[in-house]
Amino acid sequence: MNVDPCVMVIFGASGDLTHRKLVPALYEMFCRGMLPASGCVLGVSRTPKTDEQWREELLPWVREHAHGFEPGSWSEFSRRLHYHAADATRPESFPALSDRIRSLDADHHGGGNILFFLSVAPSLYQPIVECVQGSGLVTEGRRWCSLDPEQRSWQRIVVEKPFGRDDRSAAELNRVLGRAFEEESIYRIDHYLGKELVQGILAFRFGNTIFEPVWNHVYVDHVQITAAEPMGVEDRVAFYDETGAIRDMIQSHLFQILAFVAMEPPTLYTAEHVRAEKIKLIDALRTPEDDQIDRYCALGQYGPAPDGAPGYADLPDVSDGSTTETFAALALFIDNWRWTGTPFFLRSGKRMPRKVTEVVIQFKPPAANLFRELPEFKAGRRLMPNRIVMEIAPRESIRVRFECKEPGLEFQLDTIEMDSDFQREFKSEVVESYGPLLIEAMRGDQTLFKHRLEVEGAWRAVMPFLDDRSRGLRSGIQGNYPPDSWGPASSDELLARYASEWNNESVPKEGSQ
Ligand code: BG6
Repeated sequence: MNVDPCVMVIFGASGDLTHRKLVPALYEMFCRGMLPASGCVLGVSRTPKTDEQWREELLPWVREHAHGFEPGSWSEFSRRLHYHAADATRPESFPALSDRIRSLDADHHGGGNILFFLSVAPSLYQPIVECVQGSGLVTEGRRWCSLDPEQRSWQRIVVEKPFGRDDRSAAELNRVLGRAFEEESIYRIDHYLGKELVQGILAFRFGNTIFEPVWNHVYVDHVQITAAEPMGVEDRVAFYDETGAIRDMIQSHLFQILAFVAMEPPTLYTAEHVRAEKIKLIDALRTPEDDQIDRYCALGQYGPAPDGAPGYADLPDVSDGSTTETFAALALFIDNWRWTGTPFFLRSGKRMPRKVTEVVIQFKPPAANLFRELPEFKAGRRLMPNRIVMEIAPRESIRVRFECKEPGLEFQLDTIEMDSDFQREFKSEVVESYGPLLIEAMRGDQTLFKHRLEVEGAWRAVMPFLDDRSRGLRSGIQGNYPPDSWGPASSDELLARYASEWNNESVPKEGSQ
C-alpha cells in the first residue's frame, strides 16, 4: 500500500503531545524517507503565530525528542510545517480554515487527502468533529484525487486517547465520530501499538510453531503485564486527577497488549481479521461480581518520599481527599476455551522503582520432578517453571527461562535464560512510536488502530473498578505506597491469591554490572 501525500491537520498545535511526540515523530519519519515526497502539516490552535514562529517553537522539542537531529534535514522538513490560528470548536472558524487547507493542498500537492489529528483536551473532540462535519471538508471519496486519476481522495481522522472516560461517553463519542466519518476513516490511536515489541508479540506467537501449542490454560500458570514508571504526575495533575492509572494506562495500552497476548490466531494479518480477534477476546473477559471487586483489584496512591518530595495528595491542584489511583493492579479472567482458569494480571503505576513495560508468561512446573532425589532438590530447591519475558521497554528483548544441566561431573541442574535483544540482533534504532502509526494512517491501514467495539468493550471490562463498586477499595488508598516501591501491599496479596509473585527482577543492560 502506498503512503499517500496529504495535508495533516493537527488540532492542538501548541500542546504537549504535538511538541513532544507528533512533530518529532514526523521528523524522524521524514529523515528515514518514510514520508511521502509531497504533502504538509498544518498546526491549528487559538494563539496567533506565523508559520515561522511555530517552526521556531517546535525546534527545541524536536532537538530533544527526535532520535538523530540534524539541522540540514530539519530546515528541509520544517518548510512543510504551517500554522493557522483558529478556534476549531466554532463553526465560523471553518470557512477560513478550509480555504487554508485547500491552498496548502494545492501548494504541497496533497491530492485532496486530509488527515485530521485530534491532539486536544477530550472535551473538545465533539465540537471539533461537528465543525469538521459541517465544513464540507469530508467528501468521503466523492472527490477524485488530483494526483492520481484512478484514485479518490480521502479524509481520515486520528483520535488520541483518552477515548471517553467510561463506557457511555465512549459510545457517545463513537456516535459523534460516526456521523462525520465512516468507521474505515476513523483511526483510534494507541501509541503502544506503534512499539516494536508489542507488534512483535504477534510475530512471536504466530510466526513460529513451538510456542502456540503451549499458549493456553493447560500449560500457562498465569500472565503478568506490567507498565511501571519512575516519574510522578507533577506537571499533569489537571489531567491525571480526573483520570488515574486504570483509565490512563490499563483500559488503553495494557488492554491492547493483553489482546495481542491472548487472542486467537487471525486468519490473516489484516485490519479486519486482527481486530475481529481482539474484539472477541475483550468480549470474553469475565466481569467480577459486585461484592467481589476487591478480590480482583488493588489500588494505590503514592505518598511522600523520605527526601521530602511531595506525595500525590500534596501536589498543587490535586483535589482534597482525592481517591485517584496512581497505581492499579487487576486480576482478569478470560472465559473461553483457551484461557479458562488462567489469571492475567495487569499493573501500572507512577513512582515505581524503574521504567519497565513487559509481559511475563509464567508456565506451570513440570508434572513430576524426576530429579527429586538429587541433593539440591532434597535440600528444598524446586524446578523453576519456564517463563517467557517480553520486555517492551526500556530494552526490546524476549527471554526464555529454562532448567539445564550445569556442565561438570556432578549431575546438577541450574536455571538459565536465553536472551534475544532486538537492538543487538537487528542493529535497529528506536523510533518514536507515533511515527510508524501516522504512516499507517496515511497508508490507510487500520491494523494497528482500535475498532469502536474494542474500545467500548475495554471500557465495559474496567467499569466495575471505576464506578461506585470500587468505592470500598478507594477509601484507603491515600498515600498507601512509598515512592520507588512496587505499589501497595494489596498488589502482592492480589497476585499471591491466584498465583505467586510479581516479577520485579531487572536484567542488567549489556556491559553494565
Ligand atoms: C501515556 C500516559 O498514554 O503513556 C502517560 O498518558 C504515560 O501517563 C505514557 O506516562 C507512557 O508511555 P511510554 O511510551 O513512555 O511507556
